[in-house]
Amino acid sequence: MTMRVAVAGKGGTGKTTLTALLVRYLLQRRPGKSILAVDADANANLNETLGLEVTETIGTILEDTKKPNTVPTGMTKDIFIEYRLSRALVETDHYDLVVMGNPQGPGCYCYPNDLLKRYLERLSKNYDYMLVDNEAGLEHLSRRLLPMADLFIVCSDNSARGIRSARRVREIVENVKIEVGKMGLVICRGRGDGAVQLEKEIADSGLELFGDIPYDPLVEEYDLAGKPLLDLPDDAVAVEASVRLFDSLSL
Ligand SMILES: Nc1ncnc2c1ncn2[C@@H]1O[C@H](COP(=O)(O)OP(=O)(O)OP(=O)(O)O)[C@@H](O)[C@H]1O
Ligand SMILES: [Mg+2]
Repeated sequence: MTMRVAVAGKGGTGKTTLTALLVRYLLQRRPGKSILAVDADANANLNETLGLEVTETIGTILEDTKKPNTVPTGMTKDIFIEYRLSRALVETDHYDLVVMGNPQGPGCYCYPNDLLKRYLERLSKNYDYMLVDNEAGLEHLSRRLLPMADLFIVCSDNSARGIRSARRVREIVENVKIEVGKMGLVICRGRGDGAVQLEKEIADSGLELFGDIPYDPLVEEYDLAGKPLLDLPDDAVAVEASVRLFDSLSL
């Protein structure tokens, strides 16, 4: 069975950082398990936090399929898209990554989106874990690109506005009927005491507080230097907090 974990929330709240910390956790604590990381953000940067180069994204593929004469003769469009999608998978010895990117052109992407949904669904079955780093906007949650998640983590900074925005994520997920096993809130980049000050907002959000990842100067330093977060030391503040968090979620 694949465990599907989605990470969503307002812009800049630490979704990508948390996803990278989860990859790091699983590599260390669940050796031998297969992991698929999905960067579902149009402004893809999960690959940087993982230290991987990406040349082809789903976005560029979808765009190409709209251009005339791209499908080789003798091949159906479906098979061509499937073939290109399979090439967009970045494989490493320990985990794989697929990057959605952003189809730039105008027009409707319903048809390729549908193909993509089915492709991700099929692909995920080959892995023990599928981790989806979502974009800040709520639109693609509405499109139900990810129709289900065993665990849905909503990130927020430790501001009332952040928590209210997390609440909207929960409402959208419920309204569009994404099937979710367990859903909760993680406060990122705070001083570690955000949960106390924001008790009322958190209660109103209808989200269980899973925990928090405090501000860690080392995360900022790695980000500035373009260093992968997988290389953070075990005793980094964010790493220790993430281990406590993921242990408590029984991942
Ligand atoms: N615990 C932390 N300590 C210090 N800095 C952090 C922490 N978490 C995230 N950051 C920094 O905050 C910035 C935003 O984080 P990140 O990219 O993970 O957020 P995001 O929610 O994925 O953003 P976006 O909505 O743009 O995708 C980055 O510069 C990152 O290095
Ligand atoms: Mg991000």
